[in-house]
Amino acid sequence: MKTMTAFRAAIDKAPIVPVLTVHEADHAEPLAEALLRGGLSSVEITLRTPAALEVIHRMSHVDDRLLVGAGTIISEGDVDASLKAGADFLVTPGASPLLLDALSNHDGVILPGVSTASEAMARFDEGYGVMKFFPAEAAGGAKFLKALSAPLPHIDFMPTGGVTPENAADYLSLPNVVAVGGSWIATADEMASGDWQAISDKAAAAVKLGRRA
Ligand code: 3PG
Repeated sequence: MKTMTAFRAAIDKAPIVPVLTVHEADHAEPLAEALLRGGLSSVEITLRTPAALEVIHRMSHVDDRLLVGAGTIISEGDVDASLKAGADFLVTPGASPLLLDALSNHDGVILPGVSTASEAMARFDEGYGVMKFFPAEAAGGAKFLKALSAPLPHIDFMPTGGVTPENAADYLSLPNVVAVGGSWIATADEMASGDWQAISDKAAAAVKLGRRA
């Protein structure tokens, strides 16, 4: 895993993290190259396909400038397999007691999923400073995070779930949002048809979006 300093440097440069579900291991290299060409410096690969771990492994070897995280981490097995595959950071949709136990054995960049003030406070007490706010739009959106920033200014969030190019700037303008995550940057159809140019164009547009916010 990477250090939080390296992760923060990557998302400071480009605060949009594509959250991608990849079905073909052979898409790893062209996908990583397309994201890099567009100027992105991180990607989260969800553990929702049989190819996901190999994709993480192969993407993490393409270029050091691209941090490759594992998402949809829900069990100890997911934690171990992702680290073995070479994941630079781990993202969870929420946190069960068993998962928290497993995560507590590891240092590095771990973004546990939260959707309430109490969950955020509990994770902060356990040592987590940056959390995935999920499912962002369904759980209250940018308004919710803005409200949390008053009593909990010390907690940072990466909202994902319903984030789009249209609402990303609302999130990124908040002081407690360090990055946003979203799947729009590479659709299943674009990957299936090998339309890497479309993906790299959307990555470039996302980088601009991050700069404007
Ligand atoms: C996820 O974990 O699926 C992400 O939150 C992506 O959500 P999105 O498809 O709404 O961008």
